[in-house]
Amino acid sequence: MCGIVGYKGKRKACNILLECIKTLEYRGYDSVGIATLANDQFQIKKDIGKIDEVHNKLNFLTLQGNLGVAHTRWSTHGGVTQINAHPHLSQDKKVAVVHNGIVENYQELKHELEKHGIKFISQTDTEIFPQYISYSMKQGKSFKDAVHETLLRVEGSYAIVAVNVSGEMIVARNGSPLVLGIGKDEIFAASDVPAFLEHTNKVVYLDDEEYAVLDLGNVVDSSKNYEVYNVKTNKKIKKEIKTITWTLEQAKKGNYPHFMLKEITEQKETIKKAIEQDHELIAKVTDAIKNAHGVFFVGCGTSYHACVSASYIFAHVAKRHVNVVLASEFRNHENFLKKETLVVAVSQSGETADLLDAVKTAKAHGCKTIAIVNVMGSTLTRLCDTSVMMNSGPEICVLSTKSYTSQLALLLLFAYSSAGRLEDGKKIINSACKHVDKVIDVGLEKLKPLAEKLHKQHDFFLIGRDLAYPSALEGALKIKEVSYIHAEGFAGAELKHGTIALIEKGVPCIALITKSTRKLILSNAMEVKARNGYIIGVSDENNEVFDYFIQVPAAGDADPILMIIPLQILAYYLALAKGLDVDKPRNLAKSVVVR
Ligand code: M6R
Repeated sequence: MCGIVGYKGKRKACNILLECIKTLEYRGYDSVGIATLANDQFQIKKDIGKIDEVHNKLNFLTLQGNLGVAHTRWSTHGGVTQINAHPHLSQDKKVAVVHNGIVENYQELKHELEKHGIKFISQTDTEIFPQYISYSMKQGKSFKDAVHETLLRVEGSYAIVAVNVSGEMIVARNGSPLVLGIGKDEIFAASDVPAFLEHTNKVVYLDDEEYAVLDLGNVVDSSKNYEVYNVKTNKKIKKEIKTITWTLEQAKKGNYPHFMLKEITEQKETIKKAIEQDHELIAKVTDAIKNAHGVFFVGCGTSYHACVSASYIFAHVAKRHVNVVLASEFRNHENFLKKETLVVAVSQSGETADLLDAVKTAKAHGCKTIAIVNVMGSTLTRLCDTSVMMNSGPEICVLSTKSYTSQLALLLLFAYSSAGRLEDGKKIINSACKHVDKVIDVGLEKLKPLAEKLHKQHDFFLIGRDLAYPSALEGALKIKEVSYIHAEGFAGAELKHGTIALIEKGVPCIALITKSTRKLILSNAMEVKARNGYIIGVSDENNEVFDYFIQVPAAGDADPILMIIPLQILAYYLALAKGLDVDKPRNLAKSVVVR
């Protein structure tokens, strides 16, 4: 779960690599490093810390050369130390590699190489790559053959960029994302498109078990700048160059202080865009749902919460039972999978390892698969039979915000289309969209003072019933991950089955209220109030039980879309009040590509 970049071209590599890797910092940020090649030697700078901190200390911009690699790390194997930061070099310093993924058999390979006198200096699994490649070259193999041999030996997941002192660059992927950016007289490789979007929107997506030899730009025919091979067969593969429609502005912070705030605000547009889908595609998905014998919705984190929310709408509107399963637990349902089963995989990134694993399990049983996903060309889009794009634009902040409301809108749309009421579904979403501006503006105004008052609290409890219950789960996740305040979401009635023991004077409890759940959830809020809890009501109308009131217009089945927005904003302000790094919370990374 790291970000990697490779650059080969005519320009000074360090400037480009630094800019590119900054764009990938959301993928991990405990250490960073850049290596460039100049005068047949690698120049390398790396250390622990976020990119700007390390750059201020080491100044990456003094690195020479027109070719290089960069890495931002979220550690898996080996602690957060300077030595463990990437890039890693071979013992003879002739090969440098950056890696995202996990080499599962690294101990076995390490012991094998150690027997040949190779000394490892880091505690990472990654060091296997440069050491093995260099060892293989010493046995007489070309760089290409040595990389290929290494890939055949390595078990696990990887996206790598490997370079040697002769300036050859080879990239490979298996289970971790990697995309090539094809420029006029330069070529990029990166974990994600925004890294090089400033320089080119022409991309080639590598698939699992593929590697590519990158050459210097060929102005006449850019398809000659790379050759892609299958790792298993070593046969050349023809790959299509695709044009990216995301713009650079979408991937930049602009005038916003944080991506999180930008992305929350973008919901003014993104929810509408999510439901602008091709009618044939809607019909195809609807038929697949209606004809399935058993439907599973799977996702992780926020995307899982969207699935939970959808299960209520499917029950109420389409009168269909859908199974909602955490992707990481999906294997336990294997006995219920058959050819007629439909698995709907929901994901912002399309790269979440637990989810990809679930889809592979589903496919192994012959199930039909549909992806609801934001990132074009992601692994999920290539695994599933059909993909519905969320059209939210790049989501850079580690916290999912706009992607959640797009997922909610799409799933609601499919519930309505499955009930033969597509137009009603659209109407409900479109009328909710009319209130998004106001909900955001009111939230930005009213939630800052509330966050400043409450940011020293140790716990938040969120309660909701029916459709508001998944919103409570998602609101709690938002608060936890960005403000590090413990928060738990409950189905309203559940609090009294134990957790109410934690309520004491001043403990905040956010009550999420829909029209149909009002009476019961207000009773639950009263129970908290009776124990001196502090009640924040998120509702279309005020009530005397509330100590603080956030008005959110009633939107019927689209209530969850509007209701989550104030919680996103509150989480943002809580983090700000605590002086935390909003876009890069500790211990997290945007795409969780390990299981
Ligand atoms: O990219 P995905 O939607 O598959 O990611 C799933 C989760 O990792 C993600 O939602 C995570 O929980 C976010 N940090 C939530 O804000």
